[in-house]
Amino acid sequence: MELALAILKRLNLVPVPLLDGQMQVVKARAIMEANRAGVFHAIGTEGPGLTPKEIAEKVGFSEEGITILLKALAGTGYLKVKDGKYRNGRWVKHWILDPKHSLHHMLILQMYTYKRLEGLGENLKTGRPQMDFHQADVANPQASALQGTYTYGMREAARLIIPDLLKRVSIPAGSKRFLDIGGAHGEYSRSFTKRFGLQSTVMDLGGPISTATKIMEKEGNVENIELKVGNCLQDDLGTDWDVILLCNMVHLFDPQQNLELFKKCKAALRPGGTLLCVDQFVGISGQRDRIFAVVSLNFFNVGGKSYEASQMRELLTEAGLSRTEVKPLGLTTPASLIQAYA
Ligand SMILES: C[S@@+](CC[C@H](N)C(=O)[O-])C[C@H]1O[C@@H](n2cnc3c(N)ncnc32)[C@H](O)[C@@H]1O
Repeated sequence: MELALAILKRLNLVPVPLLDGQMQVVKARAIMEANRAGVFHAIGTEGPGLTPKEIAEKVGFSEEGITILLKALAGTGYLKVKDGKYRNGRWVKHWILDPKHSLHHMLILQMYTYKRLEGLGENLKTGRPQMDFHQADVANPQASALQGTYTYGMREAARLIIPDLLKRVSIPAGSKRFLDIGGAHGEYSRSFTKRFGLQSTVMDLGGPISTATKIMEKEGNVENIELKVGNCLQDDLGTDWDVILLCNMVHLFDPQQNLELFKKCKAALRPGGTLLCVDQFVGISGQRDRIFAVVSLNFFNVGGKSYEASQMRELLTEAGLSRTEVKPLGLTTPASLIQAYA
């Protein structure tokens, strides 16, 4: 089906703008609504599947509503249907229901992203974001819910990046002190402390740090991890760090802010210490460029963009860092690591 459609698109025999502008939007909403309402969880992974009536009762939908949603999800390959019973397909089982790989919060986060992008036109016109997404007032319950979802969602994405990052990174011998700037959920700090025997400080804004505190209280394994509220653009980063991580940070900022941040990191590292900059850089492969050309619009809506790896290397060099090296990460997540030394 997907292959047939790809061929028809290549031959220009189907109305591609209509498929992209209408079908993709409705499809995305169907998946997000099913995830939010717990349809996939209600169906579960065992047994011959459930009828629409059984699923409707579990999630509190009308039978008519659930039937139309289930048909749409079966049509897009997320569900399988046989003898009137619906089962989850393998994408759902792996990427939503399996706790190790689940993108449940990431999909909820996309519902916020969807609303935020309603302002994209104005944002493109003015060239500026309409709001400071990261400085949301966390005393406001809606903003606080968004912050929590954001941090849990980023944590799910981190689990896609971490295995490759641990393989590709070089940690200088004797390293002890690790600063995870914008480290939010603390997942990178957990893996780095465990793998390389480091002591870590996660620095982030108040909202993510309060979510990280809840995660750490619940899940333990927090030896050697300190959580600290701080604004990396305004506050002191300390000194004598062996390793500093900026993961998914530079796409939030403009080039001048990134240059200032790199200078602060250089000053905060011990001589020979290393800066790890992980992001969705362009200029590494055609496939990555095509993905990030689209994703960049989302980043632009909050004040940044997907940067050329070469531009970031130039800024790192200007900030006084040396031996910059680009290391693409794996296929599951097309991010790349740029590693540099103080
Ligand atoms: C895209 S998330 C990345 C989180 C984490 N590093 C990861 O890759 O999963 C960006 C993080 O940067 C934090 N952040 C944004 N601006 C910041 C600032 N000025 N100082 C510190 N943290 C900031 C956000 O709160 C958020 O947790």
